[in-house]
Amino acid sequence: MQKRIPEEVVDRVRKANDIVDVVGEFVQLKRQGRNFFGLCPFHDEQTPSFSVTQDKQIFYCFGCKKGGNVISFLMELENYTFFEALRFLAERGGVELPAINQSEETATSKISQDILSANEWLTKLYHHLLKYTKDGKDGYKYFKQRGISDESIDAFQLGYAPNSRNFTADFLNKKGFDQHVLIKGGLITLQAGNEATDPFRGRVIFPIRNHLGKTVAFGGRTITDAHPKYINSSENELFQKSKLLYNFDLARTHIRKENEVVLFEGQMDVISAYQAGVKHAVATLGTSLTDFQARLLKRYVDVVVICYDGDKAGLEATYRAASLLRKTGSQVKIALLSDGYDPDGYIKEYGAQAFQRLIDNSDTFISFYMQYLKKDYNMTNESDRLQYIQKVVEQLAKVNSYVEREYYLRDLSKEYHLSLDTLTKEVDKQRQKQEYQKDKRGKNRYTSTKQPFYQEKKLLPAFHNAERRLIAYMLQDQSIADRVQHELGIDLNIDDHKIIVTHLYGFYEEGNEPDVSLFVERVPDERLKQLVIEIAITSVGENISDEEISDYIRTIRSHAQAANIQTYKQQQKMAEKQNDPIKAAEIAMQMIELKKQLKNIK
Ligand code: CTP
Ligand code: MN
Repeated sequence: MQKRIPEEVVDRVRKANDIVDVVGEFVQLKRQGRNFFGLCPFHDEQTPSFSVTQDKQIFYCFGCKKGGNVISFLMELENYTFFEALRFLAERGGVELPAINQSEETATSKISQDILSANEWLTKLYHHLLKYTKDGKDGYKYFKQRGISDESIDAFQLGYAPNSRNFTADFLNKKGFDQHVLIKGGLITLQAGNEATDPFRGRVIFPIRNHLGKTVAFGGRTITDAHPKYINSSENELFQKSKLLYNFDLARTHIRKENEVVLFEGQMDVISAYQAGVKHAVATLGTSLTDFQARLLKRYVDVVVICYDGDKAGLEATYRAASLLRKTGSQVKIALLSDGYDPDGYIKEYGAQAFQRLIDNSDTFISFYMQYLKKDYNMTNESDRLQYIQKVVEQLAKVNSYVEREYYLRDLSKEYHLSLDTLTKEVDKQRQKQEYQKDKRGKNRYTSTKQPFYQEKKLLPAFHNAERRLIAYMLQDQSIADRVQHELGIDLNIDDHKIIVTHLYGFYEEGNEPDVSLFVERVPDERLKQLVIEIAITSVGENISDEEISDYIRTIRSHAQAANIQTYKQQQKMAEKQNDPIKAAEIAMQMIELKKQLKNIK
């Protein structure tokens, strides 16, 4: 399918999208020397081993060994086809693509595509009805009552589903959608008598977009006191509550800017926060935070502020989410609301500025925990108090900042009349214990804490390394490739390397400049692509002298000769066994000749 889009267009799309920017939209990258590093989105890890190289326009993970260019990054991450990735990047970089028959080009199933398209129509319809029609008046009034501005209604594409059984079904039928597709997407349900009805009818509508901004589901809230208060589209291939964070697509740039995200429990909180100027806001949809969501956030941002309801359930949920986020490696802060308030209610009561202050001055996890924990103990009882202190000490031991530890220890010491010295010793003891347990666990962990960046494969034999290094230089300097082509041709020892250099010679003969990211597009085999990327990333230094190149070439040649001698020796033995002295003598002669050559090389 690549074939049908001219290579020239593919190149243009690629050049219009810097890989650091594109990857940076999905992974929090930090510059380290000439490269960028982040947590690999393709495997689970705590220390970053995922690298992006700007000058080569490629990515490579030292942990799981995945690598590629900007197009394959999106294919891998979003499960896109080549064409889908290209279309995404073309749109992003403002490059026009030639028209292409889409249906064959997409990885998302036909049914999912139809659901997406129906969702898009419905989003527009519901939104239009809310804003401009008599049918949507009740919904509009409801949002106004709750203090939602017209700007927010537009930003979140809020809508209203008319209180009619078959309005939506009729609308979508007329657009040509299959009934069973609509049912699968949760857009209509079948009532007794097989009548297609809109499950959201009479409710205000919150389109739920995925991280790419596509509506994958709807949430509908009653505007009377009907039960349940909210209903959501049923889950399907496109929509899984546990993997999605409401408003993540719009919040993303703000999250980047603030290097912080604020986590809420529901849509209304996010929208109120947005109106109050807190735009780096996302929410789970009324379910507890999942491991998947925690890891997603960790990839983008270091600090997560939890802002849940100020009641008992909210507090418990806060503790659960905080523990999960900390386990995932995020720094957690807590914006605590007084009992009886949810974020939306708080903003209404105290205003935008007070809310911003609340977020800015949110508590550290430890200070939240010290309060939260008290509920389990009777603090007037001595033994309870000691247990409480022990618990706090255990948590404090997990805090790496010495200053922060001491800060809270002073608090504890003052409040419970214990010497700072004693408490400090307790914490140190705990830290040793935790360190020991970590070590024990660390033994069989996949990623070591030592960073494996730029480690050459020491275990490879010299000729193998020589070939890798040579190819690495050939990839970034055409004159080196020319020299190697002239002196070695494709006489390398490793078959994969032979194939790679063959493609590379062709690549330069076509008049291309050195460009790894472009070159891998021309390598037809997925495994070889990966190998090219790996070599380009791991086997290269700054400059190389002619002398070094000669050394590499010599090493490669002499291995080939030695290998040949090995083969001859075997043949000779065979000839002797078969009682063929003439053949054996012939082989012996050839061997002498070879050995002579080998001496010359050395
Ligand atoms: N929720 C849900 N089904 C329900 C109740 C809640 O799916 N029956 C989800 C919604 O996404 C909601 C979130 O859980 O936004 C938080 O629930 P809750 O705090 O009860 O709702 P609020 O956010 O306060 O909603 P509102 O302000 O509209 O009452
Ligand atoms: Mn609310």
